[in-house]
Amino acid sequence: MDKKRVFYITTPIYYVNDVPHIGHAYTTIAADTMARFMRMRGFDVLFATGTDEHGQKIAKSAEQMGIKPKELADRVVTQFQNLWSILNIKPDDFIRTTEKRHELVVQKIFNRLYEKGDIYKGEYEGWYCVPCETFWPESHIEDNICPDCGRPVERFKEESYFFRMSDYQERLLQYIETHPDCIKPESRKNEIVSFVKRGLKDQSVTRIKSSLNWGIDVPFDKNHVIYVWFDALINYLTVAGYGIDEKKFNLYWPETVHLIGKDILRFHTIIWFTMLMAADITPPRMVFSHGWWTSEGEKMSKSKGNVIDPFQVAGEFGTDAFRYFLLRELSFGQDGNFSRQLLIKRINYDLANDLGNLLSRTVAMTVKFCNGEIYVPSEAEEPYDRELQNLAAEVVTQVIVHMEQFSFNLALENIWSLIKRTNKYIDQTEPWLLGRDINKKERLEQVLYHLNESLRITALLLYPFMPVTSDRIWQQLGIKDKIEDMVIPEDTGWGRLEAGTRVNPGNSLFPRIEEEDKKVSPVTGESNINIEKGDRKGKMEMESQQLPTISLADFQKIDLRVGKIISVEDVPGASKLLKIEVDFKTEIRTLVAGIKEFYLPESLLGKNIVVVFNLAPATIRGVQSQGMLLAASHGEQVVLLTTEQEIEPGSKIR
Ligand code: ME8
Ligand code: MG
Repeated sequence: MDKKRVFYITTPIYYVNDVPHIGHAYTTIAADTMARFMRMRGFDVLFATGTDEHGQKIAKSAEQMGIKPKELADRVVTQFQNLWSILNIKPDDFIRTTEKRHELVVQKIFNRLYEKGDIYKGEYEGWYCVPCETFWPESHIEDNICPDCGRPVERFKEESYFFRMSDYQERLLQYIETHPDCIKPESRKNEIVSFVKRGLKDQSVTRIKSSLNWGIDVPFDKNHVIYVWFDALINYLTVAGYGIDEKKFNLYWPETVHLIGKDILRFHTIIWFTMLMAADITPPRMVFSHGWWTSEGEKMSKSKGNVIDPFQVAGEFGTDAFRYFLLRELSFGQDGNFSRQLLIKRINYDLANDLGNLLSRTVAMTVKFCNGEIYVPSEAEEPYDRELQNLAAEVVTQVIVHMEQFSFNLALENIWSLIKRTNKYIDQTEPWLLGRDINKKERLEQVLYHLNESLRITALLLYPFMPVTSDRIWQQLGIKDKIEDMVIPEDTGWGRLEAGTRVNPGNSLFPRIEEEDKKVSPVTGESNINIEKGDRKGKMEMESQQLPTISLADFQKIDLRVGKIISVEDVPGASKLLKIEVDFKTEIRTLVAGIKEFYLPESLLGKNIVVVFNLAPATIRGVQSQGMLLAASHGEQVVLLTTEQEIEPGSKIR
């Protein structure tokens, strides 16, 4: 990894036929975390994500919605971009395959392969899976079902250009053998090798326009568009500056790691590696294929209504808790299960208890016993201190080792061993007893120094995973340098905390969530008042409790507006939900509200209602809900809040 001190990391570019999903969040959070980590390791990092906007799947979805494919892409791309900003994901580049800069690179590669004789014209006859955008030869198909996703395949026969992939079979096998890290994990590499050994066929790389007219034109034949995967994979070259900025390209390529899900490994190794070989470009250093998330033990699907909405989870539990959970809960490469209970457990035990308490205890004791000031110890130190220091040094080493293997969970486990050890150090040294004895003042200062120092190192190591939380720890420790400018391992050495630093007590990092023992539904957007709720009684009990006081500034973060209901529809398959369109003058929004039992749809038309306008959107039963309407509830009764007089839609509530 250390050769050039350059690191280029990518996520798949996501299809824009549907809204973002927890799986998209997972890969992208992992890539963002790795990018931040490598920056702290002193690497020159290029981190990119984006959207895959061509192909039959998108053309079909757009057609069903009665809009142009580009219009669909323009709508959905903002969803991805919003999610990345909510999740604190900071890519250096965001690529859309409909951009001109990309089209030029795709055509350039296509031409190059054609001129070499590696692309030729022929006829495709066989099957096609639209959801996977995969051509399937006769021999792989039984019962008209896609072997990968189990959905129906289509059959067609049409003129097509082919890439001579079969010519590259031996070169590919040899390349994989001589580059043992190019496909990770190992078990996935073995799958690919045995797949390739069964024989590669030539790959169809165009569609005739009379059957699909949404893609990049074949430069020399206007009757064809380029196959969506041929187009999409090349995004990684476009971002690196291929053919546009040679200096940039030579810097970052092939120091490249593609993070992907296991669903698209074959495209990223077989098709992609051989395309690159044909174009005389070295394949990327590594393709890392991570595992698959299920929801409460089941495969996520729209029809089951168990799709986890990343906007909803981040909105309810906070970005950093979500980032932490995803990377802590499973080993990268293995499949895993998303469960609300597990998430709440992690928040309560790891974040609120271990980390949050360590910070609040440390800062509070520093204030109480030393007026908030850090004193650098002068005297010989005791065995507990050494132990803590040695562990911190060991943890730094381990974190680096595990991150090099993309073992995010083991890196976090190691950081937690330091957190737990530091909590134990408090119990062992009993600073509150030292504080009672004036002769122990010096020892007390030593102990407090070590506590603050251990937290400083912890925050630094945690920064790539939980940037906001780490920065909050840093603020409370009163450190002036910017946390993102710190270097691992230089700044993780023990003793960097300077004398005279003053702590700033702040809010607790993670309040405990008192929901653990209740039966809770999966996180499918069913947490807000306007959303279908199974257990209304439990909710009433919760509501009767008075919440803590908030500041005016906190209240002012809520954008409340008046909207006029202009249409009301049922949500298919939901007994309690209505889909409501609301006019705000500047825009019309769709809300999903759990009020079907209380209002006849017609009676709602024309009502002025009150809406939380800046609530993160959530997908409920496949419908995007943009905001939440307000209602009062008492027992079984629910009534909508409306304005006392007619007022312009869009009016703000203050
Ligand atoms: O395949 N668990 O896009 P896509 C884990 N456009 N990861 C998941 C997941 C789950 N349940 N669901 C999705 C495409 N993912 C192509 C890629 S790249 C040149 C073109 C993640 O929108 C995972 O990273 O279907 C998976 O590979 C990707 O989303 C598929 O996203
Ligand atoms: Mg997919």
